[in-house]
Amino acid sequence: MRIQEKVLPIEGSGRVLARHDRRIGAVLAEAGKLGASDIERVMALQQAAGLRFGEAALRLRLITEDDLRSAVAKQYDLPHLVPGNASFGSELVVAHDPFHPRAEELRALRTQLMIRWSNSEISQRVLAVVSPGPAEGRSYVAANLAVVFSQLGERTLLIDADLRAPRQHRIFNVPDRIGLSAVLSGRADRSAVVAIPEFGMLSLLPAGARPPNPQELLSRQALAGLLHELRGEFDVILFDTPPSTLYADAQSVAFRAGNVIVLARKDHTRLADTTGVIREMNDTGARIVGTVFNAF
Ligand SMILES: Nc1ncnc2c1ncn2[C@@H]1O[C@H](COP(=O)(O)OP(=O)(O)O)[C@@H](O)[C@H]1O
Ligand SMILES: [Mg+2]
Repeated sequence: MRIQEKVLPIEGSGRVLARHDRRIGAVLAEAGKLGASDIERVMALQQAAGLRFGEAALRLRLITEDDLRSAVAKQYDLPHLVPGNASFGSELVVAHDPFHPRAEELRALRTQLMIRWSNSEISQRVLAVVSPGPAEGRSYVAANLAVVFSQLGERTLLIDADLRAPRQHRIFNVPDRIGLSAVLSGRADRSAVVAIPEFGMLSLLPAGARPPNPQELLSRQALAGLLHELRGEFDVILFDTPPSTLYADAQSVAFRAGNVIVLARKDHTRLADTTGVIREMNDTGARIVGTVFNAF
């Protein structure tokens, strides 16, 4: 997998700092990673740039990503996912095998996104993962990206908006009976969002029962309403989507999300299809914040 282009800004949250930020500072201090004057510098940058404590400490290069990951794990008392843990699909490479080169690449993608959005002021950390055809890695990238965001203490929600061939419930091993389709048709509320305690800050809204009218559901105002409601609860919201050359669903999702990553799979996706998707996404007004060349 290769991140092909510069990732453009995702707009930053400017959100007031949650209490957990102060605790992360304490965990890092106790671990001997930060001294009192470091903490002051971090807090000053935090306030100036509207960052989370961990992000600010990373930008000042006072701690490493490993330091932050283990502090977050300690703070939430997260059980370690051991390789071969059967609760989750082996596709969650960032959890099963954090030192795998692919896990590095996914963290690099996350880092680029975070840097971009921390430099900007508007609160819109909502991102759709799109690509032209089937089996190009949208679900794989969306799932792993969600995990790496949560590993840094970002309250992360993954929404499976592939109502045609949903997969996230299987990757995370949660029931798929009630999900996005029920929420959009008014038969369920946000309680359909499932916390994934093994990942601390990660939640999943599975696709739910297959509806007869996915495209119509996804273009309803209800999706905007749901995002509005959830935006206060999560720092990052990611959408998985169906192939965009086959259905208009991804366009509806991109329109609401406002930011997209376009994937292309090596030796598989046609260039014309990728440029077509980029054009379609531009038509929705969504910003293309990155393109990923998925070689596997
Ligand atoms: N970068 C990758 N490395 C290894 N396997 C991958 C990668 N991207 C996708 N896959 C695998 O390819 C298959 C199709 O990917 P998937 O994410 O389901 O595609 P899509 O959601 O675009 O249809 C899955 O089995 C997935 O695990
Ligand atoms: Mg998929």
